[in-house]
Amino acid sequence: MKNQRTLFATKLGVIAASVGSAIGLGNIWRFPYEAGQHGGGAFLIIYLAMVTIVGIPLICSEFVIGRASQTNVLGALRKLERRGSRWHWISYLGILSSLMILSFYCVVAGWTLEYGFASINGALSSQAGEQYYSDYFRTFTGESMRPLHWAIVFLTLNYLILRRGVRSGIERMSNLMTPLLFVILVVFCVKSLMMPGAAEGLKFLFVPDFSKITPDVLLGAMGQAFFSLSLGVSTLLTYASYFKRDVPLVKSASIIAGLDTAFAIIAGLIIFPALFSFNMEPAEGPRLVFEVLPYIFSHTAGGQFWAAGFFFLLFLASITSTISMSEISIAFFCEEWHMSREKASLLNYVIALVFGTICALSFGMLSDFTIFGMTVFDLFNNITANYFMPICCIFFSIFAGWMMDKNLLHNQLTNNGKTARRFFPAIVFCLKFVAPTAILAVFVYQLI
Ligand code: PHE
Repeated sequence: MKNQRTLFATKLGVIAASVGSAIGLGNIWRFPYEAGQHGGGAFLIIYLAMVTIVGIPLICSEFVIGRASQTNVLGALRKLERRGSRWHWISYLGILSSLMILSFYCVVAGWTLEYGFASINGALSSQAGEQYYSDYFRTFTGESMRPLHWAIVFLTLNYLILRRGVRSGIERMSNLMTPLLFVILVVFCVKSLMMPGAAEGLKFLFVPDFSKITPDVLLGAMGQAFFSLSLGVSTLLTYASYFKRDVPLVKSASIIAGLDTAFAIIAGLIIFPALFSFNMEPAEGPRLVFEVLPYIFSHTAGGQFWAAGFFFLLFLASITSTISMSEISIAFFCEEWHMSREKASLLNYVIALVFGTICALSFGMLSDFTIFGMTVFDLFNNITANYFMPICCIFFSIFAGWMMDKNLLHNQLTNNGKTARRFFPAIVFCLKFVAPTAILAVFVYQLI
């Protein structure tokens, strides 16, 4: 309902909320394990290229579509497309993806709660060897009920915040959380870099071995870039529908991409030096961060305090991300299905509870239940980032680059000619040609 829309109060709030959406488990949990599985340096180079030439223009495209239409993703495409065309159908894929992401994301966010409390009560602060931490993870996730209970706690908090609406909470929380998390990460980055053998980790992350570039590495890096920037599910589009007219879109997009990348690289700078120093394997998958970090913490003075602080901040970073991905379906339910905000938030909550439960049990009771050889958790995680998000991104870039009214695009991107005029042609070029071709090329390479 139009009259329920509140806009973000300040430009800083806009950036903080979008950065809050972008920064989360994607940077600190997913980036290190994806980089670890896909060869480190080679992955990083492709990741950076994707963020710069595809990611930033795509953030701009979502921003433009959202702000120009001031409504949810389906309404937005319908409003801006040519009469009779069917572009708005792609919005269903975005909404579906956001719900799938929420369903597995809440499980990992639940792990952060378990680890936060385990740090406080001492279960994680012993001076044990790395085997202890990997056993801890396996026992905990294998137990089924404990991870499920944390996922439900997380989803319930997410629901309670969402019921209250966009502005209250999100802006203020992101403003505070992001800098604090940054400080804690930098402290551990220094700690990790001082460990014996850290140089090996740096080499792994920064020295690319081009022979390691396979179709899988390309797909993984592209998916990770989109996941980390919250692209292709229309999160940023939905947030931009709450932006005021004077928010500079290109500048905001660049700041978001820059900060998001900085967080991911810092996470890599913590994980890889420590990993090589402990002689652990980089290709551990989703367990990686939850095994390495507690080990580093437990071997640091005041580790219990640091660990609790870190996991609590990671939990906050996760909740600013889940709020943003939930907002997509909530705005859709409110505006297209005419639900009240309370009911829409409840529906989002219930859907996530059902699928979140299946994902939470994927490491225990349902670990043998596989589709295409993957557990539901892995399936949701891979199919959204590697396929659904890139497909939506192709549509958004073509829509903004080719289909939208040129004047509208220009006026939105440059704030009526007042900002970013110099970048306009380059962004349009990337949207028209570079982004769709790059994404398609990765898909085609994969198929071949
Ligand atoms: N970008 C978020 C992260 O890195 C995840 C996310 C994906 C948020 C899609 C919103 C939409 O954790």
